[in-house]
Amino acid sequence: MDQKIKPAPAPWGMWAFLRALPRLLVPHLGWFLLSVIALAPGVLMATGMPLLLRALVDRALAAGNPVIATYALAVIALLALLDVGTGPVQRWLASRMATAVGNDLRIRIFSHLERLSVGYYETRQPRLLADLATGGAGAVESALEDALLRAIKQLAIIGFGLFLLFTIEPRLALACGLLLPVVPVGSRLLSTAYDRAQANRWKVMEKQIMLADQSLTAHAMVKAFGLEEAHAALFRRLTLETSRHTRHIAWVEGAMSAAAAGGGYLVLAAAVGIGTVLVLSRSLTLGSMLAFVQLAFSVIRSAQSLSTVVAPMKQAGGALQGASTVLKERPAVADSTGAISLPPLREEIRLEGVYFAYRAGDYVLKGIDAVIPRGTKVAFVGSSGGGKSTVLKMLMRMDDPAAGRVAFDGVSLRRFSLASLRSRLGVVFQETVVVSGSIADNIRIGKPEATDEEVRLAAVAAGLDAHVALLPDGYATTLTEGGLNLSGGQRQRLGIARALLRSPEILVLDEATSALDPISEHAVTEALDHVTRGRTVISVTHRLAQVVDYDHIYVMEGGRVVEEGAHPDLLAAGGTYAQLWAKQSGFQVTADVSGSRIEPRRLRQVPVFAGIGPGTLAGVARRFQVADAEAGTVLITEGDPADRFFILIRGRMEVLKHGRQVAVLTDGDHFGEIALLDHSLRTATVSTLTHCVYASLGRADFEGLVERLPAVREALRRVQAERAAAEAQNPVHA
Ligand SMILES: Nc1ncnc2c1ncn2[C@@H]1O[C@H](COP(=O)(O)OP(=O)(O)O)[C@@H](O)[C@H]1O
Ligand SMILES: [Mg+2]
Repeated sequence: MDQKIKPAPAPWGMWAFLRALPRLLVPHLGWFLLSVIALAPGVLMATGMPLLLRALVDRALAAGNPVIATYALAVIALLALLDVGTGPVQRWLASRMATAVGNDLRIRIFSHLERLSVGYYETRQPRLLADLATGGAGAVESALEDALLRAIKQLAIIGFGLFLLFTIEPRLALACGLLLPVVPVGSRLLSTAYDRAQANRWKVMEKQIMLADQSLTAHAMVKAFGLEEAHAALFRRLTLETSRHTRHIAWVEGAMSAAAAGGGYLVLAAAVGIGTVLVLSRSLTLGSMLAFVQLAFSVIRSAQSLSTVVAPMKQAGGALQGASTVLKERPAVADSTGAISLPPLREEIRLEGVYFAYRAGDYVLKGIDAVIPRGTKVAFVGSSGGGKSTVLKMLMRMDDPAAGRVAFDGVSLRRFSLASLRSRLGVVFQETVVVSGSIADNIRIGKPEATDEEVRLAAVAAGLDAHVALLPDGYATTLTEGGLNLSGGQRQRLGIARALLRSPEILVLDEATSALDPISEHAVTEALDHVTRGRTVISVTHRLAQVVDYDHIYVMEGGRVVEEGAHPDLLAAGGTYAQLWAKQSGFQVTADVSGSRIEPRRLRQVPVFAGIGPGTLAGVARRFQVADAEAGTVLITEGDPADRFFILIRGRMEVLKHGRQVAVLTDGDHFGEIALLDHSLRTATVSTLTHCVYASLGRADFEGLVERLPAVREALRRVQAERAAAEAQNPVHA
């Protein structure tokens, strides 16, 4: 993982920063030059003051000349005023220049990140990337505003100061000049220790941020596995470790400034010592000696403070390196040169031999051919992971095919501008993302410039208006982030309203109703039936019942289309689709879920019940209890005794081993029978990803059955043996 994008101090960091400077500064050269010019009074004060003192002492005081004394004092006062007066202006100019550069960088990184492909985000932490655009640019900004200008000022003082020292007394100046490099030696020696300490602290802090992030975003999982204590303990340990590193850094910093101070005193001692000898031997005036010591003092202070500009520049350099790795990342999809606006669809959309891989060589689409005639409803169905959503990504051009093409009326999608393509499509996902703001704001995401009336009409068409009308604040009702004050069904209607707002020619539905409970699904399906009339509809779903009336259905399996046709033809063909259909049917789900039933014949599809006669099967079916659960419910916990066998009637569940997802179960899948037989413990955790309806059979009923029916016992043994063999290769089942 390339998570190393945080400004981490690196030895070459400062050079990276300095090398990047010209490119960063050129667009804002005017402001930069102004802020450098504004440094002049400060430099003049530090270097001119000693000369004025010399004049005061030698020409005025020693000679008893009050006129010169007055002039000298007046000039000193004037210089001081100028320095004080330009201070705020200089700070303002510096900040003006730095923020201009910082903003350039911020905006460039952010807009680049927005253009990167969906796949890019799979392997990165979005939070760290966001931090780069905000925090990383901030580091560059402060290095420019403070460190860079300070460095320029100190270098000017050192250069000009040394020159003046030579004019006062060359021998003395030479001695001091030769000793001056001693000042930063101590700090330099300690700087690697300092960098290492910083890097160590960052490593721990990074762990801490990740832990907090994961714990808070996946708190349902943390609770489910009872990890709160362990996470809190780890967090405490990391916090203590961080402060230990912080104290170590303070220690090293202290040693660095002590070394710098020591070096400074050494130079000063040389200046005072040699100066005293020269004054006593009358080859140096008292005023010159005073001026010399003061100038030397200025130069030393500047040399000392130079060491403090290194760290911010290194940080900025690190941030720039991070930024450049991101900026070098080419967006997977971009407008081609001379991209044209997508004209309205006349005939059809076509996928021709489309191949696609998220990871090089690992194809999840392996030559998809499909036709979507204008004004028809076409579905892509199949079990989870078959590549259905990826087909939609190709159609929406979230990514480009590795081979083959997607064509609108015979013209490759690559020819059209992304903006024009996206404006033609209305997309409803399985989960509608709600951002904080009002209901109207959330619908308007589909088309920011829409009027209130357009928003209302879209909501009416999506069947959301009736609900909104009941709210005291209507469309102005504030939604919390995540939209928890809307039900799942209402969120999906909001999603539909959002999609409809742009009057899309083509509606794209990715499991748009799959996450809903049966009643909401029914209602949302009705709203969809209403709005899909007369439009081209492309729907992806694993639930076949949703698309029985579609014009054409593509059945996908392992990245290929394995069957296609209308529902009746596919059923008649008796292939994958028919099997999937049989797996998903045979359940009568009622509005009051507990009144739902399994048809006895449906149980035949479960291997352990396959050999039982119809009479007994009806008895078994009656013993099943049907219940439902909200998303995020844990049904089975790894390590618990096994006490029920489950059939998932509708919804999606995930199977986790040691907290890692190993499988996703969907409509018609069953699990948990083996553990019932041999009294073993659950080998995995199962929790719901969406609202789920499931049937289950308790241990007592199951054991009774096994006692009475040798066929069931036999079947169980067989299944157990098969599982054990499969487990050896691919440990998945609960
Ligand atoms: N962004 C992604 N990065 C890497 N692999 C992915 C990504 N999205 C999906 N996949 C993988 O591609 C395959 C097809 O996924 P998808 O198209 O989402 O299937 P479906 O929608 O049929 O469930 C799966 O094996 C899935 O794990
Ligand atoms: Mg999908």
